[in-house]
Amino acid sequence: MNSYSRFSYPTFDQLPQALKVLYTMVLLILGLGYIFAMIQIYEVHSGRDGRPGLSVEDIRIAYSGSKTDTRLEAALKGPMAGMLPGEERTQIIAWVRDGGKEDAFGQTVQPILQNRCLGCHNGSNPHIPSLTSYQEVKNLAQLDTGMSIGTLVRVSHIHLFGLTFIFAFTGLIFSHAYVRRKYLKSIAVAMPFVAIFLDIMSWWLTKVSTPFAYVVFIGGGLMGLSFAYQWFVSMYQLWFFKCPDDSVCIP
Ligand code: HEC
Repeated sequence: MNSYSRFSYPTFDQLPQALKVLYTMVLLILGLGYIFAMIQIYEVHSGRDGRPGLSVEDIRIAYSGSKTDTRLEAALKGPMAGMLPGEERTQIIAWVRDGGKEDAFGQTVQPILQNRCLGCHNGSNPHIPSLTSYQEVKNLAQLDTGMSIGTLVRVSHIHLFGLTFIFAFTGLIFSHAYVRRKYLKSIAVAMPFVAIFLDIMSWWLTKVSTPFAYVVFIGGGLMGLSFAYQWFVSMYQLWFFKCPDDSVCIP
């Protein structure tokens, strides 16, 4: 006799219909959320190295800074790239490279900022830098040291809490799956949490030692794979799995 005979945990086909519908809805919306999260990562980080697409180099620059770019340039090539036409970006970058002089600021840079940036960067939002005065812009034209500790603390705690909840739910749903090899199922449940840990610790470590940017990449990839695996197996088994003989399909 095995211990399952005392308590039989249901496979997906044994769940009440309302629970199957609930699980399906949760998975659908979480899947949509995941797609938007991917778009967000791409929008914020791609192109920081000056080349299109998302690369390990982009990640390295995001966390540890750029040895060649200032924060203003990094923003103009990365998340703020869509805010102004290429020739204006070139003018601002030329001004930075030229030492960021005050008279040239008034002539070329300030009018661009007024047109393109001050709608958001007028100082009214404390979370984004104000670009209203020469001194404020000049400060952003110093060498880029990457994500600040304050920002890292903020995004770390949000992700640690948020992702743990997401994968607790997907893992609970997935726990009803029938997977022939028990240890594979356990690995699939544990993997996202290992990935969260690797990913977030490496954000910090990339600041100190840049090769950790690869671990950020690998952590993110593992998380995506785990999510996709749990999502598709759960979704499939919710609606198409039928156990031929209850004594063999122990979840
Ligand atoms: C639609 C609103 C909006 C406009 C327009 C905008 N920004 Fe931003 N900017 C943001 C937000 C939001 C952030 C903070 C989040 C982020 O880093 O993506 C930000 C962040 C920044 C940062 C800081 C990046 C860092 O290192 O943390 C710089 C520098 C910047 N913007 C420059 C500019 C410049 C220059 C322009 C004009 C060409 C511009 N922004 C136009 C919304 C805007």
